[in-house]
Amino acid sequence: MVWCQAAKVDDVPEGDAISVCVEGEPLALYKLEGRIYATHDLCTHAKAHLAEGFVSGDCVECPLHEGVFHIPTGRPVSGPVSIPIRVYPVRIEEDTVLVDLT
Ligand code: FES
Repeated sequence: MVWCQAAKVDDVPEGDAISVCVEGEPLALYKLEGRIYATHDLCTHAKAHLAEGFVSGDCVECPLHEGVFHIPTGRPVSGPVSIPIRVYPVRIEEDTVLVDLT
């Protein structure tokens, strides 16, 4: 595993998402009940930025066509999406969010 710094824990708002670029990869970071999750930021349907979507519970709704993904697993839940989004392992070290891109 190669852990890369993605953000500070406090940069990620509770119940919402931010977009970051790690080693050239666009990622979305989410904080759900204090736990950080990371997915690829681009929707598998037409590449909208999921971090600009709407987080509800443990799902994110794409801002373009309302496709919904389960954040912890990346599986498509509803809407026009059928391909899962990639999810990345996350580790917290002190106040820093580390993501494994491998
Ligand atoms: Fe995300 Fe179409 S781009 S649902």
